[in-house]
Amino acid sequence: MKKKYILGALACLGGVCLLSCNRRGLGEPEQKYVGVACYNESDAFVGELLTCFKEECEERKLALTIRDAAGSQRTQNDQVRELLEEGCNVLCVNLVDRTDPSEIIDMAREKGVQVIFFNREPVMEDLTQWDNLYYVGADAEQSGVMQGELAAQVVSEKDAMDRNQDGKIQYVILEGEMDHQDAIIRTESVTNTLEECGVVLERLSYGIANWSRVQAQNRMTQIIEQYPTEIELVLSNNDAMALGAVDAYKEKQYLKEEMPIFFGIDGIRPGLNAVKSAELAGTVYNNKEKQAEVMAELAYAIVKGKQSEEIGIESNQYIYIPYEKVTLENVSDFLADKNE
Ligand code: GAL
Ligand code: CA
Repeated sequence: MKKKYILGALACLGGVCLLSCNRRGLGEPEQKYVGVACYNESDAFVGELLTCFKEECEERKLALTIRDAAGSQRTQNDQVRELLEEGCNVLCVNLVDRTDPSEIIDMAREKGVQVIFFNREPVMEDLTQWDNLYYVGADAEQSGVMQGELAAQVVSEKDAMDRNQDGKIQYVILEGEMDHQDAIIRTESVTNTLEECGVVLERLSYGIANWSRVQAQNRMTQIIEQYPTEIELVLSNNDAMALGAVDAYKEKQYLKEEMPIFFGIDGIRPGLNAVKSAELAGTVYNNKEKQAEVMAELAYAIVKGKQSEEIGIESNQYIYIPYEKVTLENVSDFLADKNE
């Protein structure tokens, strides 16, 4: 089913909310707070997203408690239980295991606390269990398509990508976590898009590096040892892993012209800097500022007592923020506007 993101509805919430009253009644404490459960704070993109979210919450005078599950769903369930017991008024959950939100949903529902899932997308059967559940993120397929289009553009501009001139592009793909929507869908859609653009691909190898720069560097080092000169293109499910791949080549003292061409996704600060210095040929901007703003807007509406029917997201509770292509030509806009 095609899902849409609705910003218009959210944009007017701010004003409306000020007028609405507190559903929790008079005896309740006035301080409203947002409980945030994060899958792993060492994740570069999620870290930048949370920084933006903190700022958005400060502007709205929403208090915030952030818990880090460090990769364990069990820990996260315990943390959510604590946040609920401490009386949080809304929950923002970045699931560890996106296929396993049931316990969290049950606990929240029991307390009548609405949940905004973000970045790690629950499946529709779970999200539609209760009306007061939302997801804020981005459409994984769009990012893969954009990455594919960026790469196809370079193939068409420069003969240089097909270094051995065999009419095929020898590539390696670096993937995020195995069950993550962004890993599965980006991998599939980037290669489909390249093929639809008429590029003949030959996959030499792949690595699952869990979004991590260090894991990607290690895996890429092994792959380089197997294919020291053959790799023409490195497609990575995110910037951190693309940068890890570049690190591997640098560590092995390759010159720039001997390296393949690299593409990432996210536009985290080090990723944008690498596009600027042409270490990455491009990336796809995962708009954390907008995601954070929409989450805060929604959290604000909820703590002011709005229920889902008043909030009115006509998109099966899913809100997707569009991605944007980033290359050397427009990277300065992103460095200036979005990250300063
Ligand atoms: C993706 C992002 C990755 C990683 C992952 C964590 O959207 O592109 O870099 O942060 O989320 O869930
Ligand atoms: Ca080739």
